[in-house]
Amino acid sequence: MKDSFGREITYLRVSVTQRCNLNCVYCGKSDCAKKETELSPDTIEKLVRAFAKCGINKIRITGGEPLVRSDICEIAGRIRTVEGVETLALTTNGVYLAQYARELKSAGLDSVNISLDSTDGSTYRHLTGADVLKKVLEGIDAAERAGISPVKINTVLMKGVNSDGADDLVNLAKDRRIDVRFIELMPFSDNGEDSSLIVTGDEILREFPFLKPVESEESTAKYYSAEGFKGRVGLISPITHKFCSSCNRIRLLSDGRVKPCLGYETAYDILQFIDDENKLLEEVKNIILKKPAGHSFGNENAGHGLNRTGG
Ligand code: 5AD
Repeated sequence: MKDSFGREITYLRVSVTQRCNLNCVYCGKSDCAKKETELSPDTIEKLVRAFAKCGINKIRITGGEPLVRSDICEIAGRIRTVEGVETLALTTNGVYLAQYARELKSAGLDSVNISLDSTDGSTYRHLTGADVLKKVLEGIDAAERAGISPVKINTVLMKGVNSDGADDLVNLAKDRRIDVRFIELMPFSDNGEDSSLIVTGDEILREFPFLKPVESEESTAKYYSAEGFKGRVGLISPITHKFCSSCNRIRLLSDGRVKPCLGYETAYDILQFIDDENKLLEEVKNIILKKPAGHSFGNENAGHGLNRTGG
């Protein structure tokens, strides 16, 4: 269905937990993440069914870190069987991916985005608080071997922190059939508030002038490639090139609230309607109609100190 600004809402991000096994410097995730507030696979399926009836056809499982849930494959399988769901994707930090890749593929997972901000062990440890780069790299290999496709890498560059490792990440897209996407730092944490850390999409293009634009199906990322590249480089620029006017997404938080825009704290409880299918559907429609026109990151006194709920 269309929201009140005429945007067709087709994409639901489902956060299945706020818990995470890493502690990334830019994340801003709430510390009080509790297992008790997480939804059961059955409840998630019921809610997804209501969204699918409103025209959602793509679901992305997010967190926190979704793979900290031991029932993640059941959740994936249940979502995948909902009528109307055509694509099931996952965003993960990759640490447990080698363990789950084959089972997730069997459950119906189509594609995966893996967060990787550095291919240097000590920088990775500094950014995430954990010495697990090797596991993440194994997770990337395992996802490819399991036939999950596409495999994409998400990278957040910060000036003077990990920005000098950009070429190693670009090389991943050169050598492998992997899309490496650079996401501009958003103001979710104390570091995010320092906009001098942001590496913009345009700066990346200046650093890698051989990258040439290629057509793509996505509205958030602009894709680039170069001769001899097996994969693509994507630029996601929520700060310098807002894509709110073509935003097609909405978010289900791990506690059952629905958040129409990442840039606002506003979230609506729908769990109270779980046993009344018609009321649930009506509520989902109402919430889609309340989706704001755009986020306010980058404005003075706006968007700062956001507590990040829902990946
Ligand atoms: N700015 C930009 N991207 C972020 N991500 C998490 N926090 C931020 C932030 N402050 C990215 C992660 C993950 C994706 C879901 O969001 O890299 O891959």
